[in-house]
Amino acid sequence: MYLNIALAKGRVAKTAMDNLISCGFQFKDYSLESRKLIFSDDEKKVKITLVKSPDVPVYVEKGAADIGIVGKDILLEENYNVYELLKLKVGKCKMCIAGFKDKVPDYSKKVIVGTKYPVITKNHFDQIGVLTDIVKLNGSVELAPIIGLSDIIVDIVESGGTLKENGLVVHESILDISARLIANTVSLKTKFDQIQKVIDSLDPIIERGPVNE
Ligand code: PRP
Repeated sequence: MYLNIALAKGRVAKTAMDNLISCGFQFKDYSLESRKLIFSDDEKKVKITLVKSPDVPVYVEKGAADIGIVGKDILLEENYNVYELLKLKVGKCKMCIAGFKDKVPDYSKKVIVGTKYPVITKNHFDQIGVLTDIVKLNGSVELAPIIGLSDIIVDIVESGGTLKENGLVVHESILDISARLIANTVSLKTKFDQIQKVIDSLDPIIERGPVNE
């Protein structure tokens, strides 16, 4: 039986693939430039699907994938019935409040926030007792304050390049994010040995310590 792995497209998938390949897995036709979405090692019975990051936990919860690698930001945004097995050293970034340099809003009044992460955003501002109007966006969030759609944004900052190029700065960092290895609750029992082999090959990128931080 194949072990199905869903990887979040992009840098996380690239690092995971590099590690699997350097541990002897072979995926015919795999290259960074390829637009192919499924790769398999028919000898070792592993199948990789490259999916949009918010879809990784959906695939894993439904059993379309046995395990998956996805950012903690996605797992915090919605509740999924999956096991969070390991914290990885890849996909490290920060969830930040950002906006114009000289325009930190008056937090005693209601603040308009543009974000792809309404749950994380609401939780944060509820905790510190700030009233918000959250504008849910699906990308290019940096545009929101520029075009007057919001006062500030809550978004992932990795290199800081996107903020800088759009004339914005970090006001505050609210969460550390990194990628996680997640598993389907049934597959973890029925395909334990196959999953363990993949975990072994990911060893160089496994972060030791508690998974839930
Ligand atoms: C993410 C995030 C920022 C950017 C941060 O967007 O929402 O826009 O990356 O990275 P940086 O600090 O290294 O510049 P993504 O690339 O996923 O695109 P999107 O805006 O279409 O969601």
